[in-house]
Amino acid sequence: MKKAIICVLAVVLAMVQLMVEPSQAVNCVDVDKSLLPCLTFLTGQVPEPAGGCCDGVKALKGLVTTTADKRQACNCVKQAAAHYQNIKDNAVSSLAGKCGAPVSFPISKNIDCNSTMAPTSTCLAFLVMLALWSCSAASRGVLLNDVEITMLARHEQWMYLHGRVYKDATEKEKRFNVFKENVKYIEQFNKGGNQPYKLSVNEFADLTNEEFKATRNGYKGLCLEDKLARATASTFKYENVSAVPSTMDWRKKGVVTPVKDQGQCGCCWAFSAVAATEGINKLKTGKLISLSEQELVDCDTKGVDQGCEGGLMDDAFHFITSNKGLNTETSYPYKGVDGTCNAKKASTHAAQITGFEDVPANSEAALLKAVASQPVSVAIDAGGSDFQFYSSGVFTGSCGTDLDHGVTAVGYGVSAEGVKYWLVKNSWGTSWGESGYIRMQRGVSAKEGLCGIAMEASYPTA
Ligand SMILES: *[C@@H]1O[C@H](CO)[C@@H](O)[C@H](O)[C@H]1NC(C)=O
Ligand SMILES: *[C@@H]1O[C@H](CO)[C@@H](O)[C@H](O)[C@H]1NC(C)=O
Repeated sequence: MKKAIICVLAVVLAMVQLMVEPSQAVNCVDVDKSLLPCLTFLTGQVPEPAGGCCDGVKALKGLVTTTADKRQACNCVKQAAAHYQNIKDNAVSSLAGKCGAPVSFPISKNIDCNSTMAPTSTCLAFLVMLALWSCSAASRGVLLNDVEITMLARHEQWMYLHGRVYKDATEKEKRFNVFKENVKYIEQFNKGGNQPYKLSVNEFADLTNEEFKATRNGYKGLCLEDKLARATASTFKYENVSAVPSTMDWRKKGVVTPVKDQGQCGCCWAFSAVAATEGINKLKTGKLISLSEQELVDCDTKGVDQGCEGGLMDDAFHFITSNKGLNTETSYPYKGVDGTCNAKKASTHAAQITGFEDVPANSEAALLKAVASQPVSVAIDAGGSDFQFYSSGVFTGSCGTDLDHGVTAVGYGVSAEGVKYWLVKNSWGTSWGESGYIRMQRGVSAKEGLCGIAMEASYPTA
């Protein structure tokens, strides 16, 4: 809290200077950008910004220098004052309360913007800062209600948390509107009925579902090739497995590496194939080694697989087999962009497979035998809004069977509520879903399985 106090003092000093020094017209969006990480930190809602809270204050000082700026900033105060009167934000009120004076929002309403005035208390400075915060709202040229101002603040916090920067005010406004709709959808869903799963305002919250699905290179949606080629020779080594454990979690058996993040590259197929390969390697050799997706992205380019533009797990297994192995994540690290094959690194083999087999299509019973035996690559339809915002619980859809995403089934079980599920490892980082995993309903009436999970499953052999 000491840091916070120092920052409040810095804000006061900045405000005093802002009021006294005579510059260019204030761009409220810039004001907003420089000050918000600091403000949200001070209100206890996000961690301290990199470089400290006071960087934002310094940036603000650079923006506001002339008397005209001062007047505009002041007018923002007046415009916003009415809104803040009604905001029931405990974090903001409690911090304002710490200023040691009664907080009365109408103070700022009475500011005479034409006279030179210096804030006499931290509270006034804080109010000025709050008002500047709403400048972006005022600059939209519409009178916003409290709910919308709160939503603006949520968007700012979200941008900060996810390091999102927009190229201009137009883009920001567009993204804000998408964000607002998504937040409404997510909150409505979570409020409604007894859903077995929950959604959250995650890092995809400023994308429409169409964008989420369509942006192959942007946001990881479609990353499987349209034409899914299947192995022709179809042996299924687990066909005679008769008894399987009632639950399985390969993570608990030390067969699964930590969740990875494919970033803005549509190479889910590489992550899926690598996770399955890491699994069989551990089962075969006793060693859990994190393996290289980038080697697949860079070097597996002679067939169907096209790096960040999509690929297939089976083709990745084919590459690993013919390359006689795969290097480690450490020595051939992930870059998240298409690159040139490093032949020397690709000739170093930390793990090997002998080939791969396809699980008989459209049979969750067959998939169960396979997943009971080793982690299995599965293709799913991950294009829906609910998948985009999935946060926890057993996912029951909605989704179709347009397979567009490659993931890895690393177990199965039954939830506390009695819903059977597949335990699936995704490659969207740990902030999505249940620490990067999703539990997907198992044993559905459709033979394809939920989201088509039983349609194109395969695993490497070793
Ligand atoms: C403040 O100054 C502006 C511009 O000079 C003027 O139009 C406005 O009437 C003034 N307002 C008050 C309250 O004096
Ligand atoms: C499964 O059992 C059948 C009948 O005994 C046998 O013909 C087949 O080869 C077995 N499959 C595997 C993969 O062992």
